Amino acid sequence: MSIDLKSLRDEAIRAMTVTNTEEELENLRVEYFGKKGKLTNQLKALKDLTPDERARTGKEANELKAELENLLESRRRKVKEAYFNEIARKEHYDPTVIPGKFPQSYLPHTDAGHIHPISIMQQKLENIFTSMGFSIMDGPQVETDFFNFGALNFTDDHPAREMQDTFYTGDSHLLRTHTSAVQVRSMQKLRPPMRVVAPGRVFRYEEIDASHEHTFYQMEGMIIDREISTANLIHTMKTLLAGIFEKEVEVRLRPGYFPFVEPGFELDMQCSICGGKGCPVCKNSGWVEVLPCGLVHPNVLKAGGLDPTQWQGAAFGLGLNRLVMMHYAIEDIRHFQNLNTDFLFQF
Ligand code: PHE
Repeated sequence: MSIDLKSLRDEAIRAMTVTNTEEELENLRVEYFGKKGKLTNQLKALKDLTPDERARTGKEANELKAELENLLESRRRKVKEAYFNEIARKEHYDPTVIPGKFPQSYLPHTDAGHIHPISIMQQKLENIFTSMGFSIMDGPQVETDFFNFGALNFTDDHPAREMQDTFYTGDSHLLRTHTSAVQVRSMQKLRPPMRVVAPGRVFRYEEIDASHEHTFYQMEGMIIDREISTANLIHTMKTLLAGIFEKEVEVRLRPGYFPFVEPGFELDMQCSICGGKGCPVCKNSGWVEVLPCGLVHPNVLKAGGLDPTQWQGAAFGLGLNRLVMMHYAIEDIRHFQNLNTDFLFQF
């Protein structure tokens, strides 16, 4: 091999074996094989040689070209592999390793999985409700029109259906828009008197922004007994909120419309930030909206096979995402679903 080619080869091999990024490799490719590249120049210079020398050096130069191209390619593969291995190493965690300790005490970015903030809230509420004698019910996420709407006193052409636009599966099923779909399922399954909560995932055909998601979480509550009044509802809600906020809270009811309750309410609680004096969080009103509720409409009791002259009920719907957002001061609902572990590991 000519001295020029030999030193070119040594230099190129040394440079290629220490590169660690694709960008550096690309620079080397241009440096050697580009239009004005070092090896390209050598090949161009062949024409000035005697035919004999040209044949010999030409062969060597072409062999060197193939050798260096191979080296570059294998180096490129290694760099890529290292890049993806690094991502896999950084983002790997094992969701089956749930520590025995409470997740809040967990340090960020350990390899262990941990409980999602919505589930933390759900478990907290389940504990409060089971301590009050409630059973926990479950219902399907792909629902029939009957349980999601029809049984809940939405007539076929009822405009309230539009408040809860959803996704239809094409075989007369839909993705449930609220956990209220579990109300009539529970009536059919259990006999009154009964107290149930039904946590779970719900869906709406929404324009997505910081406070609206197409997929979110609710917890339905329902009490059925011989005599149920708004007083029972208020008491249950105050007990619940005291459990969540770990202190006594004042509440108030405003009228709210839902076809499956009569009367229907929006329940507000006194702002826990300013104690009711008025602040930016409560928009100076002293109150924050927490949950819709009401007394179960007689038509809903009938749909569940209960005689409305014998039984009465109260129901409420907790928005789990909203509660978690209030609790941890989270500003954007989209954080819950975007699989960003930096967000999730904070809890
Ligand atoms: N299901 C209603 C919703 O999602 C909330 C609700 C539940 C209202 C129970 C009244 C009683 O908007």
